[in-house]
Amino acid sequence: MFEKLEMAPADPILGLEEAFKKDANPNKINLSVGVYKDADGETPIFHTVKVAEVRLLEEETSKSYLGIVGSPDYGAAVQELIFGPGHEIITSKRSVTAHTPGGTGGLRVAADFLKKINPGVKVWISQPTWPNHPNIFKTAGLAVETYPYFDAAANALAFDSMLAALQQIPEGDVVLVHGSCHNPTGVDPSPEQWVKIAEVLKARNLVPLVDFAYQGLGAGIKEDAQGVLALAAAGLEMLIASSFSKNFGLYNERVGALTLVSSTPEAAATALSHMKIVIRVNYSNPPAHGAKIVTTILKSSELRAEWETEVAAIRERIQSVRRRFVEELRAQGVKQDFSFIERQNGMFSFTGLNKEQVQTLRDKYSVYIVETGGRINVAGMTEKNLPALCQAIAQVL
Ligand code: LMR
Repeated sequence: MFEKLEMAPADPILGLEEAFKKDANPNKINLSVGVYKDADGETPIFHTVKVAEVRLLEEETSKSYLGIVGSPDYGAAVQELIFGPGHEIITSKRSVTAHTPGGTGGLRVAADFLKKINPGVKVWISQPTWPNHPNIFKTAGLAVETYPYFDAAANALAFDSMLAALQQIPEGDVVLVHGSCHNPTGVDPSPEQWVKIAEVLKARNLVPLVDFAYQGLGAGIKEDAQGVLALAAAGLEMLIASSFSKNFGLYNERVGALTLVSSTPEAAATALSHMKIVIRVNYSNPPAHGAKIVTTILKSSELRAEWETEVAAIRERIQSVRRRFVEELRAQGVKQDFSFIERQNGMFSFTGLNKEQVQTLRDKYSVYIVETGGRINVAGMTEKNLPALCQAIAQVL
């Protein structure tokens, strides 16, 4: 059965991570996968996470299974983080949350759930998007279509084309949007544009699926929720896949969630019953540790305040690295205007380097970046690797 198999292609992001590990060049630079690195190039554990883990170690009394959708405390903490405490969606109990293994787990549960309740539904994704998005929905058996998102000439949101395309999507379909820090472009709608997007989705009776993997890495925890809140204010039903890989640094704990908003508590509870079926046949019930850390931090006012400071430090370093990157490119004699990189949000910079340039960076300079749009993880840059990186980019340009 297996001996005739041919090699499958490497993953466009995680495959680079594997190739990087094998590269023997001592000066290799990894700007591929979206993992935050500090000024020393390390991915440290948050202090608040360590404190929460100590508490858990002392207080935990059992490792028995969680329920299929995880613990209610975690679900409540996730909803408060998304909508803000006391939001009408929460008080009216129109939302339900399933704890999932990472944001990817949340997206896959969403895909299986949509396939179960509405097999003909299409999922519309932005062009470009995270390369895993189309595969997740196609693997679940759903049809995937795209809508325009990025104006490469202006390095900005192609807002008019996006809105015009959304207006043509058949009623009842699902539109995947990035809650903040669009991956890979780093270009997000403004608060006013979000309101217009919400109006069109509502008028066309479309269902947003928000990929919310970078809350807090753009403008702030609350600020980054503006898009979701605009969708909520329009009275839309929606799905939100949260990830706590980046904003809690809990990458390998695989902690995320899928939140569903409907018009009534009864409809939300019914939807959750279907979500439980697709989870049970997939991974049965979620892994507890990461979610317990997140709950412990979010429920303690003192840890929550410190966590916000930790997220702010990440955000500020990313913003300052963006400035340094643009400065250093100029210093290395690059004439092309890269100042737009300072205006992009979150971990990723969409440099516009083409496939050949990306390949040369890798083959000749051991610089690893993602092929789609020459996506660079700016959080992987340090004072130490910036000059060599910018020199290599200057060469390939
Ligand atoms: C990324 O885009 O690099 C991250 O979301 C990590 C991943 O799983 O691809």
